[in-house]
Amino acid sequence: MDIKCTERELFILKKIAHAAEELGVETYLIGGFVRDKIIGRNTKDADIVCVGDGIELAKRVAKRFKPEPKFSYFKNFGTAHLRIDSSKHKESSKVLPPIDEEDLTGAAFDLEFVGARKESYRYHSRKPEVIAGTLKDDQERRDFTINALAISLNENDYGKLIDPFDGVNDIKRKIIRTPLDPLQTFSDDPLRMIRAIRFASQLGFTIEEKTFQAIKDEANRITIVSQERITDELIKIIDSAKPSIGFDLLYQSGLLHIIFPQMVDLAGAEYKDGIGHKDNFYHTLKVLDNLSEKTGDTWLRWAAVLHDIAKPVTKKFEEGHGWTFHGHEVVGGRMVPKIFTKLKLPLNEKMKFVRKLVELHLRPISLTKENITDSAIRRLLFDAGEDFDALMMLCEADITSKNRWKVKKYMENFQLVRKRCQEVEEKDRIRGWQPPINGEMIMEIFGLQPSKPVGIIKDAIKDAILDGVIPNSFEDAYQLMLKKANELNLKPVKSELRSR
Ligand code: CTP
Repeated sequence: MDIKCTERELFILKKIAHAAEELGVETYLIGGFVRDKIIGRNTKDADIVCVGDGIELAKRVAKRFKPEPKFSYFKNFGTAHLRIDSSKHKESSKVLPPIDEEDLTGAAFDLEFVGARKESYRYHSRKPEVIAGTLKDDQERRDFTINALAISLNENDYGKLIDPFDGVNDIKRKIIRTPLDPLQTFSDDPLRMIRAIRFASQLGFTIEEKTFQAIKDEANRITIVSQERITDELIKIIDSAKPSIGFDLLYQSGLLHIIFPQMVDLAGAEYKDGIGHKDNFYHTLKVLDNLSEKTGDTWLRWAAVLHDIAKPVTKKFEEGHGWTFHGHEVVGGRMVPKIFTKLKLPLNEKMKFVRKLVELHLRPISLTKENITDSAIRRLLFDAGEDFDALMMLCEADITSKNRWKVKKYMENFQLVRKRCQEVEEKDRIRGWQPPINGEMIMEIFGLQPSKPVGIIKDAIKDAILDGVIPNSFEDAYQLMLKKANELNLKPVKSELRSR
């Protein structure tokens, strides 16, 4: 088997081999590093298994680098972690060779050490009871045949591939399969069910039938896995080249019903009086794939996943109109923080970005009609701000018609919207613009706490400027503020406020 390692990787592996020899323990490379080398993917970490004390081996490896790399370990699990940080080691190039151009793995290379083990899991927990074992025991208890491949780092057969479950062949045939009975492997660790789907999505592999049947049978056991681990896998699915593969498998297996039921609600087409609507689940997946061809931005991809999430709850059949989903963008926007909270996704600027895109995703379509005013264009530019390009990408990905003529027409319409927006932006500089009077100034002058009237006055100023009713100047905004406040029976507590 021809496995290509970089100079730096070979250098690190030699150090491990020497430390293992000194300690007198059989040592092997195992897991994702071996798999990815055979596939030809970049690697930035490696798992090392030894028949003995993994923590002690890691300590000895660390001592062979100068300066000594960061070392951490979990005694209960018998695992240790080393981070070989080339930027630190660069100075002493005698110790670590410079990274060549091809080595895209960046500065740090992570090493995970573990002693070979057979594990027995408790049914309601993912925490294993660790019992020392042989290399074969260890390979057996791994998740998939493609992840159970080992390469010897021992002097007598250095570099030899040990493949007891025909993993290399599974890589060639693009098959995901468990080394043991899948029910056993998934019962040991139910997260592996989502991992199987994640690898299928990332690598474009097929999950073997018996293995997939076991996922269907065991899907309910995913409930013992922490949300963080589930979400990590979900993000990897979203980040894969064709994320629809992963989502469709999650759906077919029944896992999606448990981990993300709002997405399942999108599935299916209802009919009334012979009129049906499209299947919004498969539509969403198509939008996600379309977008993924254009961007690797995880959060923009999340916006695709969630853009129609409120269609099921806003769906109505209206006589003479057919199916409608009025307000699904607003209701969908409100669902974003709830879904992010449930999935333990960050509740920060990323969440706000996703929400904004969900809320605005119909706006550019409304601007494809005729006689659109500059003020409507200015409003979109103001509301989308720096996320305007991301929004347009989402809208273009949202075109999923099978009719090529329609697709062409819709794309051309969006090109016109982009052009109009560019013209108006060049003229009025709306993106990143802020009205000359903000909420804080309004509160200061009328002695108000954050409250509804502040929002009313603020919006009135913003709207008047965007609609071209008043010029974009502090003085005009100030006069409008006084007028609006008067209508609301508010009296200034300060007589003067300077432009800031
Ligand atoms: N493993 C396992 N069961 C799990 C997680 C991991 O059997 N639930 C084993 C597999 O042999 C896997 C190795 O531990 O290859 C390392 O796990 P991890 O680093 O999570 O995954 P990789 O296979 O390295 O893949 P990736 O880096 O893409 O996550």
